Amino acid sequence: ANIPKYVESLPTFSGKRVRASSMTTAFVEFAQHVLPPSMYPSAYAEGTWVWGYQVAGRPASWPGYTVEAWSGRPTTVRYVNKLPGVDGGSRVAPLLTVDQTIHWADPLNRMDSTRPYRGPFPAVAHLHGGEVHSGADGGPQGWFTADGRRGPGYESFGPGAPNEAVYRYPNAQPSCTLWFHDHALGITRLNVYAGLAAFYLVRDRYDTGRPDNPLRLPADPYEIEIAIQDRQFDTDGQLLFPDSAASGGLVGGPPNQAAHPYWIPAFQGDAMVVNGRTWPVLAVEPRRYRFRVLNGCNGRYLSMNLTEAHNADLSCAPSAAAFWQIGTDGGLLDRPAELNTPGRPEAKRLDLAPAERADLIIDFSGLDGCSLILTNNAVHSFPTGTLPDPALDGQIMRIDVCLPLSGRDATYDPATGEPLRGGPGRPAPIARLADPDRGEVSPGVRVDAKRQLMLSEQDTRACAIPPEVGGTLIALVNNSSFTGLRSGTETPVSGSRPDAYGQGLWLTERPRVGSTEVWEILNASMFAHPMHIHLIQFQLVGRQKVDAEAYLAAWGAQFPGGTFEGQKCDGTLGEVRYEPGVIIPGYGSPRDYLTPNHDAALGGNPAFGPYLQGPVMPPEPNEAGWKDTVNAQPGQVTRVIARWAPTETPVGGVVPGENLFPFDPTRGPGYVWHCHIIDHEDNEMMRPYAPTR
Ligand code: C2O
Ligand code: CU
Repeated sequence: ANIPKYVESLPTFSGKRVRASSMTTAFVEFAQHVLPPSMYPSAYAEGTWVWGYQVAGRPASWPGYTVEAWSGRPTTVRYVNKLPGVDGGSRVAPLLTVDQTIHWADPLNRMDSTRPYRGPFPAVAHLHGGEVHSGADGGPQGWFTADGRRGPGYESFGPGAPNEAVYRYPNAQPSCTLWFHDHALGITRLNVYAGLAAFYLVRDRYDTGRPDNPLRLPADPYEIEIAIQDRQFDTDGQLLFPDSAASGGLVGGPPNQAAHPYWIPAFQGDAMVVNGRTWPVLAVEPRRYRFRVLNGCNGRYLSMNLTEAHNADLSCAPSAAAFWQIGTDGGLLDRPAELNTPGRPEAKRLDLAPAERADLIIDFSGLDGCSLILTNNAVHSFPTGTLPDPALDGQIMRIDVCLPLSGRDATYDPATGEPLRGGPGRPAPIARLADPDRGEVSPGVRVDAKRQLMLSEQDTRACAIPPEVGGTLIALVNNSSFTGLRSGTETPVSGSRPDAYGQGLWLTERPRVGSTEVWEILNASMFAHPMHIHLIQFQLVGRQKVDAEAYLAAWGAQFPGGTFEGQKCDGTLGEVRYEPGVIIPGYGSPRDYLTPNHDAALGGNPAFGPYLQGPVMPPEPNEAGWKDTVNAQPGQVTRVIARWAPTETPVGGVVPGENLFPFDPTRGPGYVWHCHIIDHEDNEMMRPYAPTR
């Protein structure tokens, strides 16, 4: 709380963008290790210990580097894990207590807090939004440690040391804002919190990143990555992740001592950090800038606006600054979406759920001498809960329009509403599959399958847990826990590798390669969940209200013996057991599947139809593009459409004939889809899935 604001300047990645695509195959090496005391925030003389992705041959740096790839040119990335141990060995590890009661990347594979694992931290890097082979997806089971232990989903596309994994990225996507971050099972929230996240920008011949790009988008130094993350610091200026009832006074806490002693439902820190600095300030010229904004928070929604700052050194009287969104997670929009216009209160704010990205253009022209604050007023535990403190998490960063204009600004002006096309030859950025006005899939688009899936919460508050400790909530995707490859044995998984996994093993979503599917996600929980699907970019068809309570009653009633019992008081999930003797091909007896209802054998979910209410709400204009993460509001069905395309891109803008899937997505350890509130993801709100033939 006494961290000074607007002292540090915002670090940018100008000069720190690593071009991974200057060769057909480029080797970029990341070391995951403890950085020397760094400035995080530098207000603390000693610095704050963090973890980071570093690039081999480049100086260690905080924040680290942005990777730039060229559309259509594959990249090979070698990841090296140099992280210290779970216990001791660094000043970071003791702050990040692994909850060994949840299903996590336990090198001992036993999830036993009375005999905890002590050893090097497992980690694995996932390219979020990347269309990649599942063995290069960096999924939750693909982790590895500094001493060479490996998860059951570990794969490497080339020889490497025991603490390395080599991934090949096809980069067959149009220009877009991707990011990569840690994804190790059950500890993702800790590894990301410690600093394992970075940008990965795909460029193409229309959006080259150079000043002469055909789209005339602002280029370096007028193109700036913005990674927003909330953090909490202890009195020594070190990262604090609440991990006990004593320190867990934040929203989402305290943990449930009786169930998961160190897990809290949704972390919210009180300090806002941008590009690794708390409440930084950015000096800009009075012209247009392009910002690649990432909500990199573990569990916090952001609802942002630019308002006048009361800065003694600078003053002018703008009502705000105008800004537009030009791109979503997976690429450029058809046309700019206006988010804020001075004097037009009806204009929208920028809402970003965890893991969502927004490609923005902000026009500072005419604002010479102004000082602006990027504010946040998204409530905790979105969409209900308390507002942020206007003096703390209600502010993100400051922008001072104090630099002289260095030259005429001839960049693309979103105020013209001009489509975002690069001139003749560039296809429309969106091959529109959905008709947002009608909230329906357009005629001519064949939908091969429709899946009805639900999000819900179970809680232990009915259990005999002392009220001062409270219960804990657990949120689930389609009422199943993440089962993945848990073997249920105590054999260390290092070296072992179940065969045939991903091939009929998981009774979850198995979209046929090449098919187009609509996924309807009914959120029957109390909170919004940002849902992320690996492998593909999808489009939001629309949202519709639903009577979630009536639906849940119908859902529970389909099981003999009444309702689903929810989470048990010992922290395990409620379940509806399979008939004795059921064998899952390639796996065996499903005794580890705490899954009441995730497969067709049990009849699936009751149809949503009778419970839907009111008209379909089309996507907001700034959501009408390619997405890999979508906000699913409570009491609504969120519909997305995607094509699991085998040979062609679902979007224009890629070199014609380029193969989107120069790999077989049906092979390898498979993919996941999950909530991107990482605390939820870490505690079972994730489903394995795999395309099939
Ligand atoms: Cu951003 Cu599955 O992750
Ligand atoms: Cu969630």
